[in-house]
Amino acid sequence: MKASRSSLALPPTIARKRDGGALTDGEIRAVIEGAARGTIPDYQLAALLMAIVWRGLTNRELVTWTRAMVDSGERLEWSTLPGPTVDKHSTGGVGDKISLCLAPLCAAAGLYVPMMAGRALGHTGGTLDKLETIPGFRTALSPAEFRRVLTRAGFVLAGQSARLAPADRVLYALRDATATVESIPLIASSILSKKIAEGTAALVMDVKVGSGAFLPSRAQARALATALIDLGKRLGLRVRAVLSDMDQPLGAAIGNAVEVREAIEVLRGGGPADVRALTVRLGAEMLVLGGRAPDLRAGTRRIEAVIASGAGLERLRLGVRLQGGDVRAIDDPDRLPRARHVQVLAAPRDGVVTHVDAGALGRAATLLGVGRLRKEDRIAPGAAILLAAKAGTRVGRGDPLCTLHYDDGARARAAKPLVQGAFRIGSAAGRARPLVLETLG
Ligand code: URA
Repeated sequence: MKASRSSLALPPTIARKRDGGALTDGEIRAVIEGAARGTIPDYQLAALLMAIVWRGLTNRELVTWTRAMVDSGERLEWSTLPGPTVDKHSTGGVGDKISLCLAPLCAAAGLYVPMMAGRALGHTGGTLDKLETIPGFRTALSPAEFRRVLTRAGFVLAGQSARLAPADRVLYALRDATATVESIPLIASSILSKKIAEGTAALVMDVKVGSGAFLPSRAQARALATALIDLGKRLGLRVRAVLSDMDQPLGAAIGNAVEVREAIEVLRGGGPADVRALTVRLGAEMLVLGGRAPDLRAGTRRIEAVIASGAGLERLRLGVRLQGGDVRAIDDPDRLPRARHVQVLAAPRDGVVTHVDAGALGRAATLLGVGRLRKEDRIAPGAAILLAAKAGTRVGRGDPLCTLHYDDGARARAAKPLVQGAFRIGSAAGRARPLVLETLG
């Protein structure tokens, strides 16, 4: 392999970080530019990333690193919109369909939500995979289409453009393959560089805590939330972070089409209590951050009003239509794809469900085809786990705990032991964990 000039110059930089030193602004810019242009070999980037996992980045390094990632591509700009832009980003969960109902609700309440979403990653679901179960719905939009949908619907749910923060694409793929994802400065810079490039003025972060989260412990989640708020402040992006429970899945549906269905139920005024409560809470936070509500109480009332009036559902219909989707699937969710087979898993004994392990169910759902084991895998749009019991539910022996929805029997056989192990049944209910653990920022 031919080494470029920048790759020859990199070993002293890697060594300094390895030994706990700080990188200069010039070195950071050269690394990020080289990553985006493909002029630095993967092995040198990977070595530097691992050194950062161990040694971290100072505040100055982190700001320069994030700015350089933003500058590696285009930056969208929304100053001509007649209202404030506010986005929401979740660190990833199981059964987390909140974006699907939250974005249209906030649009109906007066915000502009330029949401760039992701695909299923590891055991966590992906908003784009869910949306693509709506026949015709397009998630790959040109910048002009993105602008048109946002301007008209007040929200847009699309994939990350290759032109925004391209350095993050390269670095994220390398991190995924080299066990270097789990670093707070690398996660914070990855998320915020994309949000700043997307042009949102404010951001509500839903930082997940528990077995289904990337960073399961509350201390790690709090550290990430604090890093995001602090980095946002240094870069002119207002960030508020909500730490929310991901020890058990959100709602009853884990899957792609089934989660679209559950989000539509919320927009129709129904849906599971936890999905609805987190949607309303995050919406209220977004309205306050965007200056459309004076406080959380007023924000809550506003979001509840746009659910009750059907204005949120109407916005979803508009957004789906503008992105090429078949609105009949929103009006009649039975048109969404379904799996061919259904199998009920029953409680092995009488008792109370004390824990439903989100991480285990996320991994089982991936095996069923909800997510991907390899990047090139195709998802199964109708594959799902539908929960009949959650923590606190009293069950008798033989009562359904959940149903598996699948097309391929071998996949169901692989997933079943994980699903069975995810339900803990005891003699008495434990103390319920609150859905929102704390807010910061
Ligand atoms: N999500 C991102 O966008 N980046 C990370 O580094 C981790 C999660």
